[in-house]
This record gives sequence, C-alpha cells and structure tokens, in this order.
Amino acid sequence: MLIRHQGTNTIETMRLVLRRFKLEDAEDMFYNWASDPEVCKFLLWGPHNEVEVTRKRIKNWISNYEMNNSYVWAIELKGRNMVVGSISVEITNDSSMTCEVGYCIGKLYWSRGIMTEALRAILHYLFYEIGYQRILAKHDILNVASGRVMQKAGMHFIKFEYHVGLRRDGSYYDLAVYMKNYTDE
Ligand SMILES: CC(C)(COP(=O)(O)OP(=O)(O)OC[C@H]1O[C@@H](n2cnc3c(N)ncnc32)[C@H](O)[C@@H]1OP(=O)(O)O)[C@@H](O)C(=O)NCCC(=O)NCCS
Repeated sequence: MLIRHQGTNTIETMRLVLRRFKLEDAEDMFYNWASDPEVCKFLLWGPHNEVEVTRKRIKNWISNYEMNNSYVWAIELKGRNMVVGSISVEITNDSSMTCEVGYCIGKLYWSRGIMTEALRAILHYLFYEIGYQRILAKHDILNVASGRVMQKAGMHFIKFEYHVGLRRDGSYYDLAVYMKNYTDE
C-alpha cells in the first residue's frame, strides 16, 4: 500500500464540519482558543497576544494547503458559522507510513465529546483515504483529558517519553504516547 496524499478535504461528522481554515477565522480562533493561557498550558505554542499573530498562523496554513500533504482542519459546529478548535497532522514519516496528530479546542466547548468525534473522523480519513498504517498522538502526562480523547478514539497507550522538554513554568514534561494501527480499525 502507498500513501496517496489528498490534502485537507472537508469531512462531515454528526455534529461537526472539519474544513480548511480561512483568513476570516482569525478572530474566532483568537478569542475561542489561541489567546487562552489555559488552552495553551500543555502546548508548545501560544498563547497569542494579538489577533495579528493568529492571522499570520492561518495565512501560513492557507499557503501550505497548496501542497497536498498538509492536513490542518478547522473544527466548526454544524449550523454555527464559527470555528471552535483545530485538529491537524503534526509530523509525517511517509516512508514508514506513520504520522502524528494534534488538536485543541476552546474551553467553552470542552467535555462535550467534540474532540473525540473529530479525532475519530480524521483517523478514519488518514487510514482509508490517505493510506497511513500507524497514527501516533502524544500528550503531557498531566493533560489527562487529552489522553481520554485518544483512548475514546480507539488509540492504545504504547510508552512514556521522559524529560522531553520544559513547560513554560520551567518544569520538565513527560509524554504519554498513544498509537492506532490501520488493522485496529
Ligand atoms: C484535551 C482537549 C482537546 C479535549 O477536548 P474535548 O472536546 O473536551 O474532549 P472530549 O469531550 O471528547 O473528551 C474529554 C474527556 O476528558 C475528560 N476530562 C476532562 N477534563 C478532565 C480532567 N481534568 N481530568 C480527567 N479527565 C478529564 C472528560 O470527562 C472526557 O472524558 P469522558 O467522556 O470519559 O467523560 C481539550 O481539553 C483541549 O483542547 N485542551 C487544550 C489543548 C490541548 O491540551 N490539546 C491536546 C494537546 S496533546
């Protein structure tokens, strides 16, 4: 089997539309999650201090959409013309048919099963449409909610990675690594 890149195509689930970012999403992204220190607590980026930073980030994603191996979805709730989060492929290793995904969503929308629904949908897309054989996701061990999302999407824990880097508060973080195989689907 080969990887057949198709880029960030729109995916619909029961409650969500996963679609490409548009420049007009900058305000919603900034106010819903990118400027929130709590959302960014376990992330390597952010929080953005002004909407222009968010706009630049989106511009960059939009230009990357021209390459068909770029996967960054805006998460929109059906019937509401607003993005509430994002889900993306962070790292690819096509020669080993493996990629790694990451995600975040605004605090107002936490614990409604939204990210689990989004993750299930993109895992399906990356396995069946693109041809990846293994998909990884990693979370700071203190970020228990993110681990729950991985478990609920059918990923299984494989290992811890210790002392990977420094959190913003100067403490070292350890990662829990999860994986799902094509054959687990
Ligand atoms: C992690 C995150 C993506 C979860 O998104 P979500 O849409 O709230 O996820 P879901 O509702 O699908 O599932 C969350 C699960 O975690 C549980 N949970 C939430 N907060 C928790 C906490 N502090 N401790 C333990 N479990 C927690 C919820 O109860 C739910 O599990 P359940 O369905 O078994 O009850 C969201 O909190 C977020 O964006 N956080 C900030 C960014 C981030 O950390 N991204 C991931 C980086 S690895």
